[in-house]
Amino acid sequence: MLTYDDVVVARERIEGEIRRTPIEHSRTFSERSGADVRCKLELFQRTGAFKLRGATNRIATMDDDERAAGVVTASAGNHAQGVALAASRAGVDATVVMPEHAPISKIEATEGYGADVVLHGADYDAAAEHAHAIERDQQRTYLHAFDDPAVMAGQGTVGLEIVEDCPEVETVVVPIGGGGLIAGIATAVQGLDPDVRVVGVQAAGAPSAVEAIQQDRVVELEAVDTIADGIATRAIGSTPYEVIRERVDTVVPVSDSAIAQAISLLVERSKVVVEGAGATPIAALLTEAFDFEEDETIVPVLSGGNIDPNVLTTVLMRGLVHSGRYVKLRTVLKDRPGALTELTTIIAENRANVYAIQHDRTARNIGMESAEVVLDLETRGQEHVAELIDELEASGYPIELLL
Ligand SMILES: Cc1ncc(COP(=O)(O)O)c(C=O)c1O
Repeated sequence: MLTYDDVVVARERIEGEIRRTPIEHSRTFSERSGADVRCKLELFQRTGAFKLRGATNRIATMDDDERAAGVVTASAGNHAQGVALAASRAGVDATVVMPEHAPISKIEATEGYGADVVLHGADYDAAAEHAHAIERDQQRTYLHAFDDPAVMAGQGTVGLEIVEDCPEVETVVVPIGGGGLIAGIATAVQGLDPDVRVVGVQAAGAPSAVEAIQQDRVVELEAVDTIADGIATRAIGSTPYEVIRERVDTVVPVSDSAIAQAISLLVERSKVVVEGAGATPIAALLTEAFDFEEDETIVPVLSGGNIDPNVLTTVLMRGLVHSGRYVKLRTVLKDRPGALTELTTIIAENRANVYAIQHDRTARNIGMESAEVVLDLETRGQEHVAELIDELEASGYPIELLL
């Protein structure tokens, strides 16, 4: 099983190649949870996620012949970029197989770090199969994303930094996909301080480790469905699983809506862009998915920041709708000059701001003399929305809340 010394050796190997990421106290999340929350900001790692640590360590363990033959992996996510950068820095040729529909941003980022990208198959499994064929044909080393002790040891260096920079830590909260990150971190922190508790978090739509612990064996899920694409993994690795069983206190699921809310809060309050996987520890904290004491020193690992801008936009918009700061209303008014001005005057008097407006005389189900108006408004919260609707209805406008 992975040892503390493995992680210490990994750190010596990768020193200088990776950034020591900061830990910062969060007033917002401390106030909201009642704990003493210090975030490990691993999203500021080069490439935007911790994966560079494990890939750099694994490549450093390769002999000259292996290096000359190069590495291959399959990934459409952070591992692809970590491998690409680690390999090009070490002067090792890297091929990364991605599913055909991989987002162009990820393909470009991986190529930009120096790897050859091969597009193959409809999903990750098909890409991985092709990567293994390349491994066999070209005698390349397959660089697994998590089921490899050297990769786990590299990821574990996050844990060394946590205990060194925050010796008072009592609980570390870590996202789990294949389990490499948490296995490394648990081994590192408990090697330095056996009393530190390690909590794992998964998306409720991809609960492979939750199931594995319940059934006491590695379980392969039939399908996964979550906005946290970095941890949308169908099965945890068997090597990390052995470590998780021994060293992780509990593994909890969190819903996509809790993850989305955590992403929004991190942007708005902490000014950091965190991807779904990286936001799961905050989601677990805010929903009290695990037990903790008042003022307990908790370190959530914000493991990555590579969120697709479209996903981020949707998450932020939904967050605004959820908190009543953005609404879409439909109403009907008389089709005569000045009618729209009267409506917008009431809106302005109630201090709501028009974001978009659509005025349509040909809408279905309205009288010949009427017009349908759909308004997107910036508002100040649920109470303000309720007041505004009351005011509009009192002035004779029928209101339908669309968002
Ligand atoms: C941002 C982020 N966080 C967490 C994880 C989970 O890591 P692991 O698969 O080692 O459990 C991943 C995996 O890709 C990730 O990209």
